[in-house]
Amino acid sequence: MKPIVIAIDGHSSTGKSTVAKKLAKELQYKYVDTGAMYRAVTLFAMRNNWLQNAEVDESKLVENLPSIEINFEYNPEAGTNDVILNGENVENEIRAMEVSENVSSVAKIDKVREKLVQTQKQLGEEKGIVMDGRDIGTVVFPNAELKIFMTASADIRAQRRYNELKEKGEDITFEEILKNVKHRDHIDTNRENSPLIQAEDAIKIDNSHLSQEEQFETIMHLVRERVEA
Ligand code: DC
Repeated sequence: MKPIVIAIDGHSSTGKSTVAKKLAKELQYKYVDTGAMYRAVTLFAMRNNWLQNAEVDESKLVENLPSIEINFEYNPEAGTNDVILNGENVENEIRAMEVSENVSSVAKIDKVREKLVQTQKQLGEEKGIVMDGRDIGTVVFPNAELKIFMTASADIRAQRRYNELKEKGEDITFEEILKNVKHRDHIDTNRENSPLIQAEDAIKIDNSHLSQEEQFETIMHLVRERVEA
């Protein structure tokens, strides 16, 4: 079966990474969570005090981009790829609410996108990859064999995120999360560079009322059509 590129884009907290990971495992493909890469750059800026209350010192960050190295390392326990920032495993830290609140300001910087998109293209050169994000089907792999656009209502997405963070012990209210989800939607959709839009040839899946298994099966069906073509 010929290896293909699977691009999964969509709103935040639509479960893109859950289904992407499952697909990669089933197909024995590489999985790349591009949101994690933007989160790692955000963490780097926060640690250097170039980012406070979503106000970023853009020139400092851009000047120091060459000193940011992002890699992925397979974590056999979790069966996932952890993000490594300059040699340090930051997988847990990049998921914190503070990073979520700041990441949109970093993701809209042209030079940051340029750097990360270049790395993402290299990662997919040999195909056999599932990549999730916001601009994978539009910018990173416009020729991907399969493009999925995932969406769900803001309330349902906030509830999912709330459950996840509560499980990790974060002290947070549902209202705060809903506000963050809506705020990120607004910035992601309205930014000038690579806004979140559905690629013309992407297949839309609204998973507000779909189980993980149903989403997985729907996409696997589309994959089979393509690899067997
Ligand atoms: O998928 P996520 O919530 O972990 O993404 C974090 C942020 O990064 C989100 O606000 C949008 C941004 N992002 C982006 O601009 N482009 C991507 N390819 C992936 C994420």
